[in-house]
Amino acid sequence: MKTQGNGSASGKIILMGEHSVVFGQPAIAMPLEAVRVRVQVERLAPNMADQLDSGYFRGELADAPDTLENIKVLVRRLKDFFYLQGGLALQIISQIPAERGMGSSAAVAVALTRSFFDLADQPLDPALLLEFANISERVAHGNPSGIDAAAASGRYPLYFRKGSPIEAFDSNLSGWLTIADTGIRGKTRQAVADVGKLVKEAPQARAMIFSLGLLTQIARFALEKNQLDILGQTMNDAQALLKKLTVSSAELDQLISSALQAGAIGAKLTGGGRGGCMLALSRTEEAAAEIGRQLKITGARAIWFQKLGE
Ligand code: PMV
Repeated sequence: MKTQGNGSASGKIILMGEHSVVFGQPAIAMPLEAVRVRVQVERLAPNMADQLDSGYFRGELADAPDTLENIKVLVRRLKDFFYLQGGLALQIISQIPAERGMGSSAAVAVALTRSFFDLADQPLDPALLLEFANISERVAHGNPSGIDAAAASGRYPLYFRKGSPIEAFDSNLSGWLTIADTGIRGKTRQAVADVGKLVKEAPQARAMIFSLGLLTQIARFALEKNQLDILGQTMNDAQALLKKLTVSSAELDQLISSALQAGAIGAKLTGGGRGGCMLALSRTEEAAAEIGRQLKITGARAIWFQKLGE
């Protein structure tokens, strides 16, 4: 056992398939390397209580607010797993904005688990890592798909369909994503509820969900076969459908049209929508940077870049 352990993890973005994934269609998510969370765990004197130092709270872990219950539960499980007695000092440094669909809670869980295994100087099997991370995700989100934790811990795009194992696949696409934050918290819960209502009441909405599933399958093909224009087209088509399903917003629409004007090959919202973030696809790093500049002028709160493929 060491005196200090460190762990880190990345954020995630949904490339395609948000909302339709709720109805059994596939989705593609990927790690967002540009935003990371780092966790440091340090052993304290045996008579000391666990301490937490994070952007949201600083003090005794036991006094942390209910919104951090996922962390409390995971720390307890990890301490039990390693028979750790005595206090720990946990420091969480996160670049991942909360409630933007970037998987911040899953990334914290992955980084925290890694930090404990580093402290114990033990190797960590990927399946065990996900098991621990999803303990925390179940507290945070009730019934998580598990895709956030998988994306936060891995390096590959993930193909996911409810009830099937998550599948990592190789992207051979040479392209870039510019990701922009509207600065508005996503409203995933309400958006999911509203789409559910539409799907129940309107046959057209059911057809749209099915189309989003097909677009996701085409997008996977485009990633594997380096078909940038096809991927861009699927993103644009998906955005049009997501808008009809009422999950876009004026701010998202504005950023998306600004990205397309700046030369993006495709652009769409990512995640729950009604706020949160959007993605724009381009061929080169320079093109991605130019789109980023335009998005900033249009009012994006923050911009990130992600290379696609190797
Ligand atoms: O915004 P996020 O990353 O929480 O993504 C929500 C994705 C949805 O498909 C809208 C909901 C879900 O549970 O899959």
